[in-house]
Amino acid sequence: MSILVTGGAGFIGSNFVLDWLAQTDEPVINLDLLTYAGNLENLASLEGDARHRFVHGSIADRALVQRLLAEHRPRAVLNFAAESHVDRSLHGPGAFIQTNVLGTYELLEAVRGHWAALPASERAAFRFLHVSTDEVYGSLKPGAPAFTEQHPYQPNSPYSASKAASDHLVRAWHHSYGLPVLTTNCSNNYGPYHFPEKLIPLMIVNALAGKPLPVYGDGQQIRDWLYVQDHCSAIRRVLAAGQVGEVYNVGGWNEKPNLDIVHTVCALLDELRPRADGHSYKAQITHVQDRPGHDRRYAIDASKIERELGWRPAETFESGIRKTVQWYLAHPDWVAHVQSGSYREWLSQHYGDGATAGATPATAATPATAMQAQGST
Ligand code: NAD
Ligand code: DAU
Repeated sequence: MSILVTGGAGFIGSNFVLDWLAQTDEPVINLDLLTYAGNLENLASLEGDARHRFVHGSIADRALVQRLLAEHRPRAVLNFAAESHVDRSLHGPGAFIQTNVLGTYELLEAVRGHWAALPASERAAFRFLHVSTDEVYGSLKPGAPAFTEQHPYQPNSPYSASKAASDHLVRAWHHSYGLPVLTTNCSNNYGPYHFPEKLIPLMIVNALAGKPLPVYGDGQQIRDWLYVQDHCSAIRRVLAAGQVGEVYNVGGWNEKPNLDIVHTVCALLDELRPRADGHSYKAQITHVQDRPGHDRRYAIDASKIERELGWRPAETFESGIRKTVQWYLAHPDWVAHVQSGSYREWLSQHYGDGATAGATPATAATPATAMQAQGST
């Protein structure tokens, strides 16, 4: 048995793969396009681990996905792959439509064909789990009840609209074709391997570099924050016990304004790595122009997943954010490689110069290197 994970070199996907293989020996086939957000260094600890097989390619490449499904016959496909940054979607929505909408469509079609041809027992056990976001529900007024799974879809950014479209495709593939799908809609994650263009890692990295901490507008926008390993445990739980066709909201019961988050990060850094001049990192906070169309508040009602599947987050915000700041302080090389861009050379450094999408790496024949890259052509 094995599972196929897409987007497993990104922030949440790589945490998921690491967690999965820490808990089970069931192999993971990891299909990732390695966009700017994909970082194989996140998975360096799996080098030489035969349970992890990395494949460089896109979910939009139907033929590649069909080949992987036929070759590995995974019992489940977990779709983490996406363009995920709201700010980038405002500057260039095209990539979001390509991957989140058209890519999900191609993936669903490849999976549907494979699933339909499976013997009855394998077909019954098969699952397609789609990882989505609370942003599809739009923005809440102060005091309004948190998003339940019944909340209408009201996406406001190109990113959230593209994720909403993908959720609708997944839903339709279940209702029209019977594909056994599960969907999770999660709030803001934070933790290790978070790309430092998102709020929390950006604040840590900029603070340490003596740079401004850019808070959009008044900083009173509210998000619900969940430690990434809690998101991973929720996904494992939904995969194991979720009802086919159901949607599960996942959140941390932890609404906070952005400015509070930034103050917390500064306070932790003041304690763990004080500035040389004795001043607080808060002095670096700068209010900058707001994000266009910025959603004011998200809040997740995660009672369904708790009631039906017995899942609750293990971390409080206080424990999770401390672990996160400590992780960034302990991994300056990871940060430096992201900042210099050298993390993008990981594939060629570890698999030979020809290792681009479609190339078979020089090391693929070495049994010790189970983290193989294989091609789409
Ligand atoms: P990320 O941007 O860190 O990682 C995305 C990964 O997908 C990268 O490794 C990238 O290379 C890969 N990818 C992009 N396009 C691809 C394609 N066409 N084919 C294959 N791989 C491709 O994103 P993340 O924060 O890890 O989010 C993962 C998923 O979880 C996304 O679907 C996102 O919408 C969802 N989500 C994220 C959050 C959050 O707070 N980060 C919260 C809720 C839901
Ligand atoms: O809610 C779930 C979503 O959370 C996921 O679907 C997205 O993939 C993920 O990127 C995240 O989206 P956000 O837009 O909420 O994340 P981001 O870290 O970009 O911003 C968090 C909040 O902080 C948001 O209100 C914007 C604000 N912000 C962000 C940055 C990068 C700032 O004030 N300053 C900044 O520099």
